[in-house]
Amino acid sequence: VEKRELLYEGKTKQVFATDNQNFRIFAFKDEATAFNGLKKGKISGKGVINNKISSILMRVLEREGVPTHFVKEISDREQIVKAVSIMPIEVLVRNVAAGTLSKRLGLPEGAKLSSTVYEYCYKNNDLGDPLINTSHVVALGLATEEELKLMLKIAGKINDVLSACLKKINVDLIDFKLEFGKTIDGTIIVADEITPDTCRFWDSVTRSKLDIDRFRKDLGGVEEAYNEIFNRLQSL
Ligand code: TMP
Repeated sequence: VEKRELLYEGKTKQVFATDNQNFRIFAFKDEATAFNGLKKGKISGKGVINNKISSILMRVLEREGVPTHFVKEISDREQIVKAVSIMPIEVLVRNVAAGTLSKRLGLPEGAKLSSTVYEYCYKNNDLGDPLINTSHVVALGLATEEELKLMLKIAGKINDVLSACLKKINVDLIDFKLEFGKTIDGTIIVADEITPDTCRFWDSVTRSKLDIDRFRKDLGGVEEAYNEIFNRLQSL
């Protein structure tokens, strides 16, 4: 597969075309953003680490039968992925109260949820990715009810697989965000990335944050946290 033109420049990644219409190349950047792009910065080495972390986690999912876009790492910052059209919905999965859930519902950060919470956001930067429900998804034609059901089922499986995998390295999966894409033949698969940019990871023992919240909240030790997750994953 040969790299061709830049198709899309995102906040944290570039997407390139290749000489094969079924494949694209992701290049992970060191740029970090928070609060819908209001806060910007750089986390030195993040692109390299996130490329590795997402590759490891996508491989874990594939091994457990979850269809993903991941194909192959090709350099420090780059990976080949399957070409998809991204569904305009983010699926959020939450095991413990944190972030916007805590804020919206007045739950203390770290409060255990007695069952998993699933949320949808409409992917629209101008609107700040608003929270929507099933009837919005269907009424706006963002996905069919069947597609949404499938995405939810995959999200639940991912939560089970990743929570168990991370538990082995003393990391609690607090919450995470998923994106889905449709391949050329119409199959729905997991797309984008699964990294400390898109998940909340807490040390199981100390409850210390090992993710982008360190950047959002100016807690320091951001690079160290990303490296810590990568090092622990490598020991698996
Ligand atoms: P939140 O508490 O800010 O709504 O985020 C919930 C989880 O989803 C958290 O792990 C961060 C992740 N997330 C993203 O990666 N990108 C997003 O645009 C949003 C809204 C959440």
